[in-house]
Amino acid sequence: MNTIKTRLLGKAASLAGPVRAAIAELEPQLIADVSKEGFGDPDVIPLWYGESDLSTPAFIREAAKKALDEGETFYTYTRGVPPLRAAIAEYLTELHARPVAMERVSVTTAGMNAIMLTMELTLERGENAVMVTPVWPNAAAAVRIMGAEPREVALGREQGRWRLELERLFAACDARTRLIFVNSPGNPTGWMMTREEQQALLEFCRARNIWLLADEVYSRIVYHGRAAPSFLDIAEPDDPLFVANSFSKAWAMTGWRVGWLVAPAALGDVVGELVQHNVSGVATFLQPAAITALKAGEPFVNEFVERCRRGRDIVADRLAEMPRVRFTPPEAAFYAFFEVDGVADSLAFAKRIVREARVGLAPGAAFGKGGEGGFLRLCFAQAPELLARAMERLKPVLS
Ligand SMILES: Cc1ncc(COP(=O)(O)O)c(C=O)c1O
Repeated sequence: MNTIKTRLLGKAASLAGPVRAAIAELEPQLIADVSKEGFGDPDVIPLWYGESDLSTPAFIREAAKKALDEGETFYTYTRGVPPLRAAIAEYLTELHARPVAMERVSVTTAGMNAIMLTMELTLERGENAVMVTPVWPNAAAAVRIMGAEPREVALGREQGRWRLELERLFAACDARTRLIFVNSPGNPTGWMMTREEQQALLEFCRARNIWLLADEVYSRIVYHGRAAPSFLDIAEPDDPLFVANSFSKAWAMTGWRVGWLVAPAALGDVVGELVQHNVSGVATFLQPAAITALKAGEPFVNEFVERCRRGRDIVADRLAEMPRVRFTPPEAAFYAFFEVDGVADSLAFAKRIVREARVGLAPGAAFGKGGEGGFLRLCFAQAPELLARAMERLKPVLS
């Protein structure tokens, strides 16, 4: 195993012992492992990461530049400047069926930090967090860093569609379960929870006193309607619910590191304390730009989703011509997660594809249970010409 401990033993054996066991046992993210095969090589078409080839829209960049020029360079509120928290609350209230008060909102260093803060707040060493997979792997790593156990429950498959089996999810919970993590719309599958499933899961969490962490960073990347069903449509303000979200995806702001966490209002100050001790808040001059994204960004979000839809259709048409590939186009998010017959080791296969086809894809094995075997993930939030070129290159290795 390629854990941090084995890597340290190879480089600085004296340091391997003192590193906390939970950290020493972490394994590298397999997407990064594949990207080492061709990172920075201009000839490789990079479709392995969860981001678009578009820069953040100019009107959002301008707002950050203006704040910098006006000298907004000082320490600020750990939970985010009040106007940004108010703007997020207003955005969520307008988008969802129930109001969200700004007391429930904290600004975070993007979605990843919102997830980590929730794990820090809820998990004791030796407890477990039940997670619906296949899923983006960083949330499980956050559970492990806390000394807790990520317990995976794989989605089922029915005629190519991913399906949550709630009874299996409930059965995986025991007396040591403190949290359930669901990412809907899901990365890598594009699967979405239904309103009824959300209701049943929320009721289970209420009854069992288990925290629910909903990762809704893809809530706006949907191909029908304006937003995916959200727990914020149905939850009471003091339900045992955290909702992580981010500016990264829908506003093309991955490099900014700005997002938010919705928590019960009573925990707001506690979230603020934790932010203080982790990163002490989000850069002051980025926050007015985040407000601009919310207030003036709807046309961009709509265009972006249409661009993703075009990308999805290009990829789906080409994959349909490849007899070894099984793929059902997703209803949400911006990934094609497809299975290639005859492939058992997706990591080795993804590395081979980089070498032979010069296209970067993420291996299914990176996403836990349900993603093993011949699955690969391709991010289609890209220019149509780039996708067409990538699909042409992939034809010989996938057919
Ligand atoms: C499911 C999911 N959650 C959270 C994130 C974190 O995104 P960020 O930290 O950029 O907001 C990602 C990024 O790929 C993701 O796919």
